[in-house]
Amino acid sequence: MRVAVGWRGAGHNGWMLHVILYQPEIPPNTGNVIRLCANAGASLHLIRPLGFELDHAKLRRAGLDYHEFVNVMAHDDLGACLAVLRQPRVFAFTSHASRRYTDTRFADGDALLFGRETSGLPEALLESIAESRRLRLPMQPDNRSLNLSNAVAIAVYEAWRQLGFPGGI
Ligand SMILES: C[S@@+](CC[C@H](N)C(=O)[O-])C[C@H]1O[C@@H](n2cnc3c(N)ncnc32)[C@H](O)[C@@H]1O
Repeated sequence: MRVAVGWRGAGHNGWMLHVILYQPEIPPNTGNVIRLCANAGASLHLIRPLGFELDHAKLRRAGLDYHEFVNVMAHDDLGACLAVLRQPRVFAFTSHASRRYTDTRFADGDALLFGRETSGLPEALLESIAESRRLRLPMQPDNRSLNLSNAVAIAVYEAWRQLGFPGGI
């Protein structure tokens, strides 16, 4: 079963980018990403289990406006999510990749996949994605990873920039 928080339907307003958070655990991170996606015109997909309850009242109490979460949808698993998105190209963001996120060309309809705050993306899931689609945000040596919502912001704005910031003012 999947529950849309406020989904307007795939393709509505021509979402060009899709962000997928795999089993996010920390509510403020997801809150930041909800606002980010609203600003960048991306749809947001959350893969269960979530580390928090997702409902209108809680999102409003977290300071989000209704229009910011109409493009948010939760799914029971990644397969269900990709089916709803009609099997998009998936780019997995992981600090374990060797390819930089700036060394790829993003396209209309791409999905950007991010892992859990504590454990990242499962190894088996990563291995199911072509190495050329596993992307790294460069960091200084001896640093483990970026904060999830910061990583999403960097990636989404690069992809949106490459597309010419459609809809952006
Ligand atoms: C806090 S990090 C996960 C840390 C986890 N301990 C790990 O080693 O993957 C949460 C998510 O942010 C994204 N992320 C953080 N830093 C990244 C980096 N340098 N390159 C690509 N993705 C990154 C990844 O999607 C990651 O799964």
